Amino acid sequence: MSKRASAGPESIGHFFNPKSVAIIGASAKQKKIGYVIAKNFIESFKGKFFMVNPTVGEVLSCPAFPSVKSIPGEVDLAVVAVPAKLVTGVLEDCGEKGVGAAVIITSGFKEIGGEGVKLEEELVRIGKEHGIRLMGPNCMGVFDSTTMVDTLFIPRYRLKRAPRGNIAFISQSGASGIAFLDWAAGERIGISKFASYGNASDVDEADLLEFLAADRETNVIAMYIEGIKDGRKFANVAREVTATKPVLVLKSGATASGAKAALSHTGSLSGSDEIFDAVVRQTGMIRVYDWEEMFDIARVLAYQPAAKGERIAVITNGGGAGVMIADEIEKHGMKLAAIGEKTLAGLRAKFPPHVALRNPMDLAGDADNERYRDAITAVLADDSVDSLLLVCIPHTPGIDLESFVDVVIDSSRKNNKPMVVCLPGGRIAFEIRELFEENGIPTYPTPMRAALSLSALVKYGSLRSNLSCAKC
Ligand code: ACO
Repeated sequence: MSKRASAGPESIGHFFNPKSVAIIGASAKQKKIGYVIAKNFIESFKGKFFMVNPTVGEVLSCPAFPSVKSIPGEVDLAVVAVPAKLVTGVLEDCGEKGVGAAVIITSGFKEIGGEGVKLEEELVRIGKEHGIRLMGPNCMGVFDSTTMVDTLFIPRYRLKRAPRGNIAFISQSGASGIAFLDWAAGERIGISKFASYGNASDVDEADLLEFLAADRETNVIAMYIEGIKDGRKFANVAREVTATKPVLVLKSGATASGAKAALSHTGSLSGSDEIFDAVVRQTGMIRVYDWEEMFDIARVLAYQPAAKGERIAVITNGGGAGVMIADEIEKHGMKLAAIGEKTLAGLRAKFPPHVALRNPMDLAGDADNERYRDAITAVLADDSVDSLLLVCIPHTPGIDLESFVDVVIDSSRKNNKPMVVCLPGGRIAFEIRELFEENGIPTYPTPMRAALSLSALVKYGSLRSNLSCAKC
């Protein structure tokens, strides 16, 4: 039995913060999975790493060890990328070496049925016997933007790694993981940790959630799941975690066809979607239905404070967009705030008569940066407003695009109320959206995406206040 044997959340730390790593199946052949993983470690891992391959003397100028057992010193984490029939032998060697955790990239286990199921049971038996925590098999493994553990076998020229940040993403599927990470990298959204855990033979969604709950680098947890391994354990952990951090969940396999696909993808049993919905409600998670929705909501939760209530102020320079936003606010269970008379009177004295001082507040097509500054400052200071949804049609001539983002940030700084921006349009809008995002203000091209994201802050705020009421 390994001296490291432990099944608690601390054992999950071996995956993200190992001091030394063995890459088993490391290869010098460019198209191989073992090559990409070896290269990732050479390029950026901050600890020690060792190549293991019995058929060659070296891999990418690093000495290759014939087995994990011949590596001098301790090994915390093994990354296994050899064919399925070799994995049990390799894992026995890891057990003898006292390795704490193994990411098993290899496919060909439970997901293929028959012999694969038996082979996976054997892996679990060996892992338990030696106290090795297993991630996978049939997975992509781990990316940690701080320690730079990177077992993703997608070359960096195809998938730029996301910058450091505070969103963690755990995914049963490698492909969903790649979609999310690529999106994050493209939009420069920071990721703290990523784990693709495939067949969940040992480490499952609940273990990862529990670990991330205590992770200082992570403020928001997003998950993609196909099935839950242990419903009771998952629900208990999720309930605990949502009390301190928002948890977003995207679960597929809701239809008969989806459930069948999940079974052959990761060997998962999808279960009843109605029951899953009930678990989501009872535990305070936020359910999303698509990658885009997950990404939109993850970043709003990462960058903005939870809302204290459901009363939303809308400021726009386009009436149509204001009407659409009003619809979306109601559809997503929020309310247009009744902005106070004093606030409106102050603005009335400053603005021309054609500015519509209601909610949505239409600053009109000739609005300039100063009109926005006055409106944002006054509305955010109003006690009847919990959050602001700011709309700007950036094409109108009065808006000084160079300084618009600074004006918005400056005028919202005094208040700690949530704000999201809706900035519709093509090229010009795209550039300003990027600037807002860089400054931590989630910005969306459509009313629906902006309102839906804001509603997540309202839901999470209400969950937090219900929990603190329950404690008092
Ligand atoms: N220890 C270490 N290395 C070994 C050993 C051993 N005991 N035995 C052989 N090797 C070496 C091989 O010689 C080879 O090295 P080389 O390139 O220098 O010749 C290397 O390990 C790899 O072995 P191969 O037999 O060449 O295997 P290959 O790289 O073709 O395939 C792999 C291995 C990638 C693990 C494959 O079996 C597989 O599972 N592919 C699918 C992976 C996948 O899709 N995972 C899930 C994705 S995520 C999801 O969506 C669920």
